[in-house]
Amino acid sequence: MKAVAVVPSQREVRLLDHPQPSLAADTQVRVRSLDVGICGTDREICTFVYGAPPKGNDYLVLGHESLGQIIEVGSAVKNLKPGDLVVPSVRRPCPDANCRPCRAGLQDFCATGRFVERGINQVHGYMTEQYVEEAQYLNFVPAALRDLAVLSEPLTIAEKGMSQACQVQQRLPWACTEPGKPRGHGLRAVVVGAGPIGILGAMKLVVEGFDTWVYSRSPKPNPKAALVESFGAKYISAKEVTPAQLAAQVGNIDLVYEAVGHPDAAFAMLEVLGLNGVFIFTGIPAPEGQITVPGSQLMRNIVLKNQAIVGTVNADRAAFEGAIRDLGEFQKRWPAAINAVITSRHKPDDFRELLTGKATGIKNVISFA
Ligand code: BGC
Ligand code: ZN
Repeated sequence: MKAVAVVPSQREVRLLDHPQPSLAADTQVRVRSLDVGICGTDREICTFVYGAPPKGNDYLVLGHESLGQIIEVGSAVKNLKPGDLVVPSVRRPCPDANCRPCRAGLQDFCATGRFVERGINQVHGYMTEQYVEEAQYLNFVPAALRDLAVLSEPLTIAEKGMSQACQVQQRLPWACTEPGKPRGHGLRAVVVGAGPIGILGAMKLVVEGFDTWVYSRSPKPNPKAALVESFGAKYISAKEVTPAQLAAQVGNIDLVYEAVGHPDAAFAMLEVLGLNGVFIFTGIPAPEGQITVPGSQLMRNIVLKNQAIVGTVNADRAAFEGAIRDLGEFQKRWPAAINAVITSRHKPDDFRELLTGKATGIKNVISFA
């Protein structure tokens, strides 16, 4: 089968021939790839500073943002059948019997660091024609989401981020609880960054009832600003408005969803986080960079304003189910906007430009169908 893979020992990204998988247990499912999304993690792996092939292999099949269709199920699989659309999760548990998160199906919180990730870390990914997976790691997708469900995995970042933020904010007994109102009712959120993670996060925040601002570099007018405003968030350019000016405009910033990946932009926004606010980090910058931050002022704010800072890496089953449900909600409310998050679909042969060329658009997808 065709597969897009990295060969780190030769510092190469290649379309190569990968063996067709078959079921090895009656709990497994064979899936035909339809769409695979490309993200910053894939592009980073293609610079050979991150990611690792399975032990004993010299290549790693890429791809962790997948939508597939089932072609075969093992005899013990009861909840899925051939023809069903599915989205697989990424992380697989570590083998340690004492790792309580992994044993509880919460490997996104693995406590040993010995987890593996499909398409990233020691297990082949989904950028190939077919793959085999345990049924427990697959999430059913309604047929109506055929063209959108490749966005499920990136949306799980917002799903888990929201659920973590709400759990943290339970410390504020009057917040998150107004009966009959969404969780963000009366609250103000700022999303930093207008890439796929930022835009999907902003959609989720709007659905949750937050008054939502997206703060990103490019001045208006630009296509991302127009997209953001089409679903009811406000777009502010960081080239035109400083974080302090943004905070003056917004009022108390109750939640920041960092989706920019650059520490400068992230910490500049932390400086203006409001009273009792929560700051959610999702970006993974390169480890080498050094920046200067006003540590004393930040520390004073964190204490005197009761602030909470949460990092989040995706994701558990609940986040995948939430993402699939919310894609349905986005489709109902803003069909044109959610469709526009997918910039382009390409043949596998276009892999090199997509993975190693200049990053363009919002979400680019490789289609195997
Ligand atoms: C993936 C996560 C993964 C992380 C770090 C992200 O792009 O969506 O599932 O844990 O990279 O490898
Ligand atoms: Zn990703």
